[in-house]
Amino acid sequence: MSVKLPLLVDLKFDRTKVGEALAQTFADRKIINLATSQDKDQDLSDAGYALLWKPDFRIFAQMPNLKAIFSGGAGVDHLLSLPQLPDVPLIRFVDPSLTTRMSEWIVLQCLIHLRKTLPHLDEQRDRRWSNIRVPEAREVTVGIMGLGVLGQDAAAKLQVMGFNVIGWSRTAKQLSNIETYDAGGLEDFLKRTEILVGLLPLTAETERLYDHSLFAKLRKGGALGRPVFINAGRGRSQVESDLVAALEDGTLGGASLDVFEIEPLPQESPLWQQPNVVVTPHDSAVSDEMALMRYVGQQIQAYEAGGSFDNLVDRKRGY
Ligand code: NDP
Ligand code: OXD
Repeated sequence: MSVKLPLLVDLKFDRTKVGEALAQTFADRKIINLATSQDKDQDLSDAGYALLWKPDFRIFAQMPNLKAIFSGGAGVDHLLSLPQLPDVPLIRFVDPSLTTRMSEWIVLQCLIHLRKTLPHLDEQRDRRWSNIRVPEAREVTVGIMGLGVLGQDAAAKLQVMGFNVIGWSRTAKQLSNIETYDAGGLEDFLKRTEILVGLLPLTAETERLYDHSLFAKLRKGGALGRPVFINAGRGRSQVESDLVAALEDGTLGGASLDVFEIEPLPQESPLWQQPNVVVTPHDSAVSDEMALMRYVGQQIQAYEAGGSFDNLVDRKRGY
């Protein structure tokens, strides 16, 4: 294939960084960047590829020659839920920069709860010299739901910190040093888990999965006393009214949340004010613009040289 098909870009990221990364990566390819005023009303009909994050579905009808769609992030629920999504290969973003950031966030949150950091901060504010006992990581079992690219990296890094790590995924996995459970082993997995980490994609099966009955199955009376819920997968996998109830009735002892049913988290959400809860604005693992363009550039180059795309989404599975 000798003609370099144009790349349509519709990302809601930092405009300057996207512009710089595009200029550096695609100097010899026509780019239509919908974030720029000069490209906003361009004819899209010759676009061969699209790099998208939460696009307006109406652009699909204007791109009859698409060969592939790239997601600006690891998740693809923002695309799969759209009407008129063209039936072309759909590729998600997989890159060490994103994986590393996510593991940093997960390890940080597990340590925050292990070391009772939020109660300590309250005491500091009150000038109180406390005497809280904190357990060692090896006394605590972290159970990761989702053992994909992100879940496996987080598991390895939590192990380095000394946590006892187990994992759960739809299909069985054999991982060195980590006991794993497949879909049928959920109950056994939950009853051993004291810190639950959610790194699942949003699909029909994972929507509203983290509810009160699931929280009630987590291990109580372990080194932390009450279990903790950490979620960086997708907010619509958690039932927030159940989460608040579980925090208030003591089923959960704390939580760290990067994702929410509605984003930005509405001002009136009780989650902002819950004790022992960390709220971050869906920034545990943002896509690095330069890494993203490099990744898309390499994939297009491989495809145009007669190869195939990596990290293809299975539309039937939903991730
Ligand atoms: P992967 O596709 O690599 O892994 C997904 C994992 O979830 C797999 O282990 C898969 O099981 C498992 N899974 C999917 N459906 C089910 C189910 N019904 N029951 C049990 N297990 C299931 O994805 P990544 O690890 O790269 O990313 C995970 C998610 O993290 C993304 O989809 C995205 O939603 C979220 N994310 C959030 C970010 C943030 O900033 N908060 C940043 C990046 C990603 P199996 O191995 O059997 O296929
Ligand atoms: C992603 C995200 O899916 O940032 O990459 O949520």
